[in-house]
Amino acid sequence: MEVFSSPAFDEHEQVVFFFDRVSGLRAIIALHDTTLGPALGGCRMWPYATEADAITDVLRLSKGMTFKAAMADLPYGGGKTVIMGDPRTDKSEALFRALGRAVDSLGGRYYTGEDVGTSPQDMDWAGEETPYVLGRTRGGSSGDPSPVTARGVWFGIRAAVRHKLQRNDLEAVRVAVQGLGHVGYNVARLLAQDGARLIVADLDQARVERAADELGAKVASVDAILSTECDVLAPCALGGVLNDDTIPRLACQIVAGAANNQLLEDRHGTELHRRGILYAPDYVINAGGLINIALELEPGGYDRARALARVEAIGTTLAEVFERSAQTGLPPHEVADRVARERIAAGRERHSEPAPNPMPRRAAAAV
Ligand code: NAI
Repeated sequence: MEVFSSPAFDEHEQVVFFFDRVSGLRAIIALHDTTLGPALGGCRMWPYATEADAITDVLRLSKGMTFKAAMADLPYGGGKTVIMGDPRTDKSEALFRALGRAVDSLGGRYYTGEDVGTSPQDMDWAGEETPYVLGRTRGGSSGDPSPVTARGVWFGIRAAVRHKLQRNDLEAVRVAVQGLGHVGYNVARLLAQDGARLIVADLDQARVERAADELGAKVASVDAILSTECDVLAPCALGGVLNDDTIPRLACQIVAGAANNQLLEDRHGTELHRRGILYAPDYVINAGGLINIALELEPGGYDRARALARVEAIGTTLAEVFERSAQTGLPPHEVADRVARERIAAGRERHSEPAPNPMPRRAAAAV
């Protein structure tokens, strides 16, 4: 397959293939952009059908991390790892130790962590070989990111409601939540505390019943939730939910939820905009998990209260994106992409400025 000319490549700085004979590790680490700082991004383990699928996935995911970190105003870049293998059958201590050595060989340009198919235990094994691992089970770990992600989504929904509905509160605002997992349930709980009227759906009946009992939520079927009449649709399950099939059926004014890659393609964001539906770009509204884990790298170490406070900025950032979208007529997902690129370009400018008070040439030559 082509790599440099693949659409997913998009100016990646480095893409490295790792193979370990003993454990059978086959991993790809992609560093998209380290202008703003070392790259952060988790390690996904998945039984990819082809190597091309794995390459495309790692490239798309690492680029997404660059944008997510830039929009969260974090001093980090974007990267990602994929391991080709089945997480149910192919995991071993040797495999993750080999991964740790692979990460270590990048010398701190990249920090890994858990993602789909990997766990804090796996990160403990990798962490035996390198300091560049976040999200372990012990030693100042940031723990489950989901409550922090949920709080960021809640701030984001409030910003969207303020912009679109000119409302400062959520009393009686109708929110349809698709997916009541680690993030979705916490979002629903925060919304219920604000007096929002919830409509929920999940494949897992027990989760739906719990939301009905504890939060007074109405229940919709998984097929009907996207077309439920509501003010806000909050996709908190899968990616790709906004597509040619679903968009004509939407009956909401706002789409704002946690799921990654909600737009099947970029043009679907443009279509939402054309229909007057306000879309909160996913990598802006769901950055709470990244903000949470990045705190492990701060001098004072991780602090959950600080993580929860820090995600409030997600609401402010989204308000700015919506405002700029209104001024320029560009859809919010394009505005977010532009702002992220501007922040990276500004970082590049700063790096290319001469260092202040440089040593005089002659003195330097004499050293
Ligand atoms: P999870 O696996 O805990 O929850 C997903 C829920 O969605 C499950 O309850 C599942 O039964 C349900 N679901 C799946 N397909 C569905 C369908 N068609 N209709 C209705 N419900 C369906 O996952 P989690 O951690 O809550 O993440 C949710 C989304 O948010 C994912 O897209 C994830 O990538 C994204 N995200 C999560 C972050 C985190 O901190 N956990 C951070 C950033 C993004």
